[in-house]
Amino acid sequence: MTIGFEGRVALVTGAGNGLGRAYALELARRGAKVVVNDLGGARDGSAGQSNAAVVAEEIRNAGGEAIFNTGSVTDEDAMMAMVAEARAMWGRVDILINNAGILRDKSFAKMSIADFRQIVDVHLMGAAICTKAVWDLMREQNYGRILMTTSATGLYGNFGQANYGAAKLGLVGFMNSLGIEGQKNNVHVNTIAPAAATRMTEDILPPEVLAKMGPETVVPAALYLVSENAPNRATIAAGGGGFERAHITLTRGIHVAMEDMTPETVAAQFDAIGSREGEIVPDGVFAQSAMALGQI
Ligand code: NAI
Repeated sequence: MTIGFEGRVALVTGAGNGLGRAYALELARRGAKVVVNDLGGARDGSAGQSNAAVVAEEIRNAGGEAIFNTGSVTDEDAMMAMVAEARAMWGRVDILINNAGILRDKSFAKMSIADFRQIVDVHLMGAAICTKAVWDLMREQNYGRILMTTSATGLYGNFGQANYGAAKLGLVGFMNSLGIEGQKNNVHVNTIAPAAATRMTEDILPPEVLAKMGPETVVPAALYLVSENAPNRATIAAGGGGFERAHITLTRGIHVAMEDMTPETVAAQFDAIGSREGEIVPDGVFAQSAMALGQI
């Protein structure tokens, strides 16, 4: 079945370059009206020219509908105004892709708290601010698809990216609860973990790898995750032709009597606690206590 976006209004943050641009172009090609947001700036968030207008024009030249916005995802008033503008123009907002991001890579020893805070502000708070700006509208519409952007760094870790990893895994936590809250109003929240050749990765991955990993290799997963039949609360890794799913699991662990609840027991049983045999993917907060009480 073809996945179409006719009649849908999509807002993509950080869509002046890289992945956001690729999402915006393909959403528009498949019928969505698109708000192309991008503050502009260099990879580390320092000042620079926004390409939002260029991408919106590219969409219109190809016969699609688009407007652009150069506000920062960290600016609550600007994001509320952006949503209001989209609503005034097209009456609704169906899709939000929280994609905007920057890097301030350094080992934690050399990282300032300002660099840590800036990364959390743009990735995590920016996504919260944009999501808040569309949330009531999506609930009123009884329709919404929101995509968060995590990273293999957040899910699995990377040297020099403690700030980025913290913010990126925060987005998975944000999705996990938000998707539960949105469910009854048909607002689904998912997360993408991209791996693609953009200016963000141009000096991180070797050229022969980058050549196979254009942003278009991430687009199929992102578009499925914001489509009508999207799942809710899924994290999909995508790039270079690979599509995988990341799960947060809970092992079956051990259950011990009161007198054995000591640090020594935990030390002695550490391998058994970590055994992956029979592990589950919990669908909510109660799984942990249910597991401990032997109810699962
Ligand atoms: P990119 O640097 O090409 O695009 C990011 C865009 O966000 C830029 O156009 C930038 O101007 C914009 N932006 C930055 N701060 C903003 C703000 N405050 N408000 C609005 N726009 C802002 O990088 P890329 O690779 O396309 O990254 C997109 C997302 O994917 C980011 O969240 C990034 O962390 C994530 N990601 C990318 C990976 C990759 O392999 N390229 C890997 C894992 C995650």
